[in-house]
Amino acid sequence: MITLNFVKAGLGDVDVLVVPVLPDGKAGVQLPAAISERLAFQLKQSDFSAKADELTTDFVTIDGRTIKLVFVGCGEKSEFTDDGLRATGARTYVGLGTVDKKSIGYFYDEKILSANSQLLLLEGLFLRNYFDSRYKTGDEAKKLQGKIIAQLTLVGNVPADVKKELQRLQVITDNVHLARTLTGMPAGELKPEDLANTAKSIVKENSNLEIKVLHKADLEKEGMNLLLAVNRGSAYEPRLIVMTLNAAKKEPPVVLVGKGITFDSGGYNLKPSGGMEVMHTDMAGAAAVIGAIKTLAELGFKRKVIGIVPATENLVSGDAYKPSDIITSHAGLTVEIGNTDAEGRLVLADALSYAQRFSPSVIIDLATLTGACMVALGERYAGIFSDQKDLIKQIQKAADISGDKVWPLPLDQAFKDKMKGKISDLNNLGPLDRLAGASTGAAFLSYFAGGRRWAHIDIAGPSHQSKELEAWNPPSGMTGYGVRLLVELVTEQL
Ligand code: BES
Ligand code: MN
Ligand code: ZN
Repeated sequence: MITLNFVKAGLGDVDVLVVPVLPDGKAGVQLPAAISERLAFQLKQSDFSAKADELTTDFVTIDGRTIKLVFVGCGEKSEFTDDGLRATGARTYVGLGTVDKKSIGYFYDEKILSANSQLLLLEGLFLRNYFDSRYKTGDEAKKLQGKIIAQLTLVGNVPADVKKELQRLQVITDNVHLARTLTGMPAGELKPEDLANTAKSIVKENSNLEIKVLHKADLEKEGMNLLLAVNRGSAYEPRLIVMTLNAAKKEPPVVLVGKGITFDSGGYNLKPSGGMEVMHTDMAGAAAVIGAIKTLAELGFKRKVIGIVPATENLVSGDAYKPSDIITSHAGLTVEIGNTDAEGRLVLADALSYAQRFSPSVIIDLATLTGACMVALGERYAGIFSDQKDLIKQIQKAADISGDKVWPLPLDQAFKDKMKGKISDLNNLGPLDRLAGASTGAAFLSYFAGGRRWAHIDIAGPSHQSKELEAWNPPSGMTGYGVRLLVELVTEQL
C-alpha cells in the first residue's frame, strides 16, 4: 500500500514535487516564491497552458537542493468530471516515468482545487500506481518495481477529514490492486484451493471476518451438483468459499456472489484459440468479491455481509460433463446441459441457492458471464440486470460515484421462458439463435435467486482491458473492476 506522509510547512525532503495547475495559473498562494516563478515562466514561455492532462517539468533549487517540478494541467473547473480528474491523476503518475520514486511530493492546496477534486486526482494516481512484475526476472522486474510509488508526501495543509478520506482510498485502491493480482494469475498458480487459501489468509488478518470452505465431499453432501458437474473435467477439486463479515449480527445480511472459474476451456464445447487464452481471468468476479469483503473488513463496516465464491476449473476429461447431461441443481430444479461453455451460470446457480439459507436482504452477483455482454457494451461497462428497478438505481448511483461503470440490460419473463428445458426444468444454453445472450444468461440465474432482491452484474467486458481505455487501469491487463463498485454500493447505497 502506498504510504502517505504529511508536511505542513516547507517541502520536507521531496526530490520531485507534483503541482496541480489551473489554466489561470494560480497554483496556490502557498507555493514557495521560487516555484511560482518557474510556473510563471512555464506558462509564459513554453507551450504549457494547464489544459487537462498537460504536463510540464522544470527544476528549481531551494536552499541548495534541486527539486524536480511536475506541473499538472487540470483544465477549466467548469469542465471537471470525476473520471476526468481520476484520469489526470493517473496520467500524472505515468508522467513521472522513470524518476526515482522514493521521495515524491504532491502540493495540496484547497485554494487551487477543492478537497473533492484533489481526492479524485489522487484516487486516479493511487489506482494507476500498479505494475505486475511477478512474472519478469532480472532488470526488467526491477524496472517495473521501480515505477511504483511506495511513499507520497502531501505538502500543505490537509484537513483531518481529507486525511481520513485518503486512508479510505488507500484501502480501497490497495484491494483493487489485490483483485488485479489475483485475476492476473495463471490458472496453474491459482487453483480453487489457492483461491480458498487466499481468502483464509485475509480472514486470519481481520478479526471481524469468519470463513467456511466447503470441499468436494461437503459439496456432495449439500447436493451442489451443478458446481460438481462443472468440476468433473478438472484434476483439481472444487471449493465453495464463504466469507462472513460481522457474523455475530442477527440482521439479514447482504450477500455478494463472485464467479470463481479459475480456468474456462469451455469444456466439450471447447473454446477456439483466441477465445481461451485469457480464461484464467474467469474468476474476476470472485476477485472483486474477495477484494470488496476485505475492504469492508478493513474499513470496519458494521453490517453483516457474506461473500460466496464457487470455485472450479471448466476442463475436459474422460469424466467431464457433456452436452445433454441432465443435472439436478442444489435448488432441486433439473438442468439440461445445452452447452458446457455456459458453466458460469451453473456454478452461480448453486451458489445463489446456497445463499438462501442466510435469508439475505439482497444478493448481488458479479460474473464474467457472457461474451455477448462484452459485444453489447464493450470493455468499459458492466451489464446490470434485476427485476427490482430501485436496486438497478442503487447500483447506477454506486457506479456514478465509484467510477466502475454499469449499464442496465433487459431481464423479463420472455427471456426467463427461453431458458426452460424441453425434457428438464431448465436448459443452460437457451435459444439456439444466441440472441441477447447476456439477458438469457441473467434469466437463467433468476430461477435461483429465491424471489429475493437480487441483481446480476456481468463483468466480462471491464474485468480486463486489451489496451488503455481507462487511464487509471494498467495499459493492458487486469482492472480489478468491481471492488470500488461493491464497496460504494454496500456502504452507501443499499
Ligand atoms: N467466461 C465466459 C464468458 C467470457 C467471454 C468472459 C469472453 C470474458 C471474455 C463464459 O463462461 C462463456 O463461455 N459464456 C458463453 C455462453 C454461451 C455458451 C451461452 C459465451 O459467452 O459464449
Ligand atoms: Mn464458459
Ligand atoms: Zn466462463
